[in-house]
Amino acid sequence: AYEVATFYNMYDTQPVGRHKITVCTNLPCALMGANEIAEHLRQKLGIGFGETTEDGRFTLKEGECMGACGDAPMCLHNNHAMHTHLTPEKIDELLDKLK
Ligand code: FES
Repeated sequence: AYEVATFYNMYDTQPVGRHKITVCTNLPCALMGANEIAEHLRQKLGIGFGETTEDGRFTLKEGECMGACGDAPMCLHNNHAMHTHLTPEKIDELLDKLK
């Protein structure tokens, strides 16, 4: 059970914040700027992968390919809403909407 829980992005073995943002960092996304998107999120939220903001609002996670490579870079919000063709501006808009 532990192997399954730690393999899939949608399972969490520790409590997460109200908004879990999972950034795909696999090769196609990385080639399209996922690392810059992740760095932007880290700076905006003040947390790293696997961490939750002090107010419990945001958790940032690193994810594996979610099948949206053609729309890279991308992230998933709360295992449900996919955000694609990300730019730092789009991340800012998303965070503003979620605050
Ligand atoms: S590599 Fe990121 S969605 Fe496939």
